[in-house]
Amino acid sequence: MNGVPVPVPLAADLGFDIDGLAAAVTDRTKLLFLATPNNPIGMATTTTELRRLCEQVPAGVIVCIDEAYREFVDPGFGDPVAELVPDFPNVIVTRTFSKAHGLAGLRVGYAIGHPEVVATIDKTLLPFAVNALAQTAALAALEHDDVIREAVGAILAERARVEVELAAAGWTLPNHQGNFVWLALGERTDEVGLELERRGVVVRPFSGEGIRVTIGAPDENDRFLATLADIV
Ligand SMILES: Cc1ncc(COP(=O)(O)O)c(C=O)c1O
Repeated sequence: MNGVPVPVPLAADLGFDIDGLAAAVTDRTKLLFLATPNNPIGMATTTTELRRLCEQVPAGVIVCIDEAYREFVDPGFGDPVAELVPDFPNVIVTRTFSKAHGLAGLRVGYAIGHPEVVATIDKTLLPFAVNALAQTAALAALEHDDVIREAVGAILAERARVEVELAAAGWTLPNHQGNFVWLALGERTDEVGLELERRGVVVRPFSGEGIRVTIGAPDENDRFLATLADIV
C-alpha cells in the first residue's frame, strides 16, 4: 500500500522494546503493528505492557495487535480484546482460524475493534472476502470448542516435551507461547537448516538469526530432535 515500514529492533530478551516502539511513532505514522506471540520467536507480550504502549501512542495511530496464536498462549498474559479494545478506540485485534483450528486453507480470520475503525475497513473490503464454506467451517469450529481445546492441549504437551529435550541438550530457549519453538542459531542458521532439510526435516530458517520449528505429531518431533542432535 506504499507505506514505509519502520522496523523497531527487539529488546535484548527478544521481547518487544515497548518504549522503542513508542519512540518510533512520528506524525507520519499511521499504523503500529505487532504480534503476540510474535513470529518466529514465539514470545508473548502481557496486556499490561501493551497498555503501556497504547498509552504512549497518539489516538490517530491504529495499533494492530495480531493474535494469530492466541489459543496457545498462557491466559496469564491477558486478553487484549477484553482489556484494551474497550479503552482504546485505535486498538484493533486480529485473530485467525488458520492455526489452532487448522483451517489455513480456507482463509478465514477476523478483527475486533472500535465500530468506526471496523466500518472504515469494511469500506475497502472485497465483497465475499470470506467464502460460504469458510464461514461454515469457522462456525463449526466455534461450536466444537472442546475439540479445538483438545488439539491445542496436545500441541502444548508436545511443545513442553520438546522444550525439555532441547534444554537438556543445552539450548537456551525463549518463553515460547505459540505452536513452535525457536533455535537461536545465529550464523549457523543456513547450514543447520539445509542439513535438516537434506535429512527430510523441513523447518523455517531465518538467515543469520535462527530456525523456527513447528510442533508436529510426537513421532515427527522425535525425528526432529534426533536429527538436530545428530547435526549440532
Ligand atoms: C503472526 C501471524 N499472523 C498471521 C498469520 C497468518 O494468518 P492467516 O492465515 O489468517 O493469514 C501468521 C501465519 O503464519 C502469523 O504467524
